[in-house]
Amino acid sequence: MGGVREVVGIFFFFFFFVVVVVNTSTCWGQLSGHFYDGSCPNVEGIVRRVVAHNLWRDPTAPAALLRLFFHDCQVQGCDGSILLDSQEGIVTEREAPSNLGIRRLDFIDKIKAAIERACPNVVSCADIVVLAAREAVRIAGGPHIEGLLLGRLDSITANESIASASLPPPDARFDEFLQIFGSKGMSLEESVAILGAHTLGVGHCGSIVNRLYPEKDESLGPLYYNVLRLRCPAGGMVRQRAVVANDRTPLVFDSQYFEKALAGRGLFRVDSDVALNQLTNPIMQLFSANRHAFFAAFSSAFLKLSLAPSASAGEIRHNCRFVNAD
Ligand code: HEM
Ligand SMILES: *[C@@H]1O[C@H](CO)[C@@H](O)[C@H](O)[C@H]1NC(C)=O
Repeated sequence: MGGVREVVGIFFFFFFFVVVVVNTSTCWGQLSGHFYDGSCPNVEGIVRRVVAHNLWRDPTAPAALLRLFFHDCQVQGCDGSILLDSQEGIVTEREAPSNLGIRRLDFIDKIKAAIERACPNVVSCADIVVLAAREAVRIAGGPHIEGLLLGRLDSITANESIASASLPPPDARFDEFLQIFGSKGMSLEESVAILGAHTLGVGHCGSIVNRLYPEKDESLGPLYYNVLRLRCPAGGMVRQRAVVANDRTPLVFDSQYFEKALAGRGLFRVDSDVALNQLTNPIMQLFSANRHAFFAAFSSAFLKLSLAPSASAGEIRHNCRFVNAD
């Protein structure tokens, strides 16, 4: 009996130590709703100010920042790995074909510089990516997402082949859509809502030419098919660099995307698939008619995407493009 009690005692000791003592000390990698309250209390205000002050340079930047967040979190969690340039031992993730069109890293650099001036060496680039995306949504007229957890660490490596394998290709289908967001604990409603990010921004012709040539993708409406063919003529890499707006209001975070997708005008294959599928069609109908339902589901989906788990090893990068020297 005594032996059992001892074992139980030791168990509780370790339980107490691991769960209570280790957890209550604020350490990086341990996400919290108040992570920077002591070390950088105005971090969210700085992000807001820098994004707002630089918007005139590129009013489409919010779209870029929102997609950057997805493409960071989708590859081994939100760890700022997409920001790393090629350097010793690292081929940048931005070489991955699905990262075509990733842009506006200069906004992240500007935010990082402003934060370093106010509170050096405490805020990770990974958290900046999440905060910048949250700000992008708000400044474009979308919901103000509450309850973000912060305290992420920046990766000390990046791997282009893992990025290539983890990111959905431009012609991803319904199954991949289900898998990507379901694996992050999203409901079907949340999965449709997060795809509503396509209310912002543009796609390159290169991402949609397979829907136009050699033959028409069945799910494209006939008028829209002609619009896209004019915009993206057959052949020629130069022409494939032209861009097409995701919806009629590509600068505004609204529910126009759902209306458009339901009308046979989904820009990417996944947009059309989700509009046509029997499971998700009613959800798109709901969101196209009810902006509040869209915003609420988008906000909770955004939080789930922001919690995609990453490796525990990491650092606070001095420069978001490079791992620290030592
Ligand atoms: C299965 C899921 C998804 C697929 C297949 C997909 C595919 C694409 C493609 C092909 C582009 C155009 C890239 C280009 O040609 O430049 C794009 C753009 C975009 N995507 Fe997605 N996407 C998905 C999910 C998401 C999610 C979850 C978000 C955000 C949370 C997102 C946000 C965006 C934004 C904002 C743009 C416009 C970017 C810009 O204007 O620079 N996408 N997406
Ligand atoms: C990237 O990841 C793949 C698959 O895990 C691995 O085989 C490869 O060695 C990695 N490359 C680098 C440069 O670490």
